[in-house]
Amino acid sequence: MARITLENVRKEYGDVVAVRGIDLEVPDGSFVVVVGPSGCGKSTTLRLVAGLESVTDGDVRKDGESLVGVEPKDRDVAMVFQNYALYPHMTAERNMTFGAGSATDFDDAEIERRVADAAELLDIADLLDRKPEALSGGERQRVALGRAIIRDPDVFLMDEPLSNLDAKLRIRMRAELAKLHEELRTTTVYVTHDQTEAMTLGDEVVVMNDGRIQQVDSPQRLYDYPANRFVAEFIGDPAMNALEVAVESGADGARAAHPGFRLPLPDGDGLDAAVDSRAVLGVRPEDLSLAGADTDADAAIEATVTVTEPLGDSLLLECRVGDDRLKTQASPRSDVRSGDTVALTPDPDRLHLFDVEAGTALYHSAEGATAPDDGRTTRSPPATSEE
Ligand SMILES: Nc1ncnc2c1ncn2[C@@H]1O[C@H](COP(=O)(O)OP(=O)(O)O)[C@@H](O)[C@H]1O
Ligand SMILES: [Mg+2]
Repeated sequence: MARITLENVRKEYGDVVAVRGIDLEVPDGSFVVVVGPSGCGKSTTLRLVAGLESVTDGDVRKDGESLVGVEPKDRDVAMVFQNYALYPHMTAERNMTFGAGSATDFDDAEIERRVADAAELLDIADLLDRKPEALSGGERQRVALGRAIIRDPDVFLMDEPLSNLDAKLRIRMRAELAKLHEELRTTTVYVTHDQTEAMTLGDEVVVMNDGRIQQVDSPQRLYDYPANRFVAEFIGDPAMNALEVAVESGADGARAAHPGFRLPLPDGDGLDAAVDSRAVLGVRPEDLSLAGADTDADAAIEATVTVTEPLGDSLLLECRVGDDRLKTQASPRSDVRSGDTVALTPDPDRLHLFDVEAGTALYHSAEGATAPDDGRTTRSPPATSEE
């Protein structure tokens, strides 16, 4: 087991800057998920920890000792890849043991014992004689995990290990990975582009974009208190709505003014500073509800429905408000039709304001009411910080 520290890590490939100076602490025994869109630098970050690439600048440390210049085989980390990377001509067992002798100081008997243990843990004991072509995708990925496990490394590095599996199997393997970590408690860095996977797997989730860390937080805090617009719109599906508004103050408090509405904004940290300027109002589709006839029109958004999408458990509505678009969810059998005018009332405790240019969060209405303090610290550099 080990603690991994990334300090101002930067990686350039010629003109391409893949990683723009990131700081990250992966505590001993933790399961940290790194999530972000394709091309944001996730794989590069893992490869830098594994030693498959060398840093352009900054430091990667294990238990405080710099790994810069240390060969991959001497780092005691095991990587699991999306494409399994199994040798087609070798049996599952051989795939697991190949190279293990030189990568570890285990003798043959020890390796044999470890294969048996890993096979039982992964439920592949009956498959050890098969070659990859005779294994399903899920079984291949178990063999690839087995290969990592028998080495008993200090750190597991997993690069989208479930992405090649179908949706059902992915959900099952997700649960199994979580269980595996409960048992082994090996420090794990897990990379995915799938925000749902990140939210369900991570104790702590690192959101990356464009080579930078955007926010490191628990899944719930990422959802409730996104540090900037990127996180707000990346986490959650359908994505958070974002509408530019003028933040005005009046006798009855602050309001978010838009050609289509003037919503009251509950008092909260950051609100006073935002008054008399423009900001982007963020509100999640699931935090808007279709108002009844008796609604206070003053606290509602009047919108025209443009598209309705039945999802089974809800009816997704795409609406127009002035020149902006807005999504919301109605009850599945509601009789709303495209072309209808609807009044939408937002949950007043679930409103967000973001800086128009930098995208940084200025205000979350929930914070005024219930100061969140679950002992965690939000570590989020400003979205605009340059390296
Ligand atoms: N070997 C390489 N040579 C040149 N550019 C690379 C190389 N590897 C990655 N990149 C570039 O670095 C950026 C980050 O890539 P990567 O870390 O693979 O992203 P992710 O895993 O998040 O999809 C991308 O723009 C990618 O094209
Ligand atoms: Mg990748």
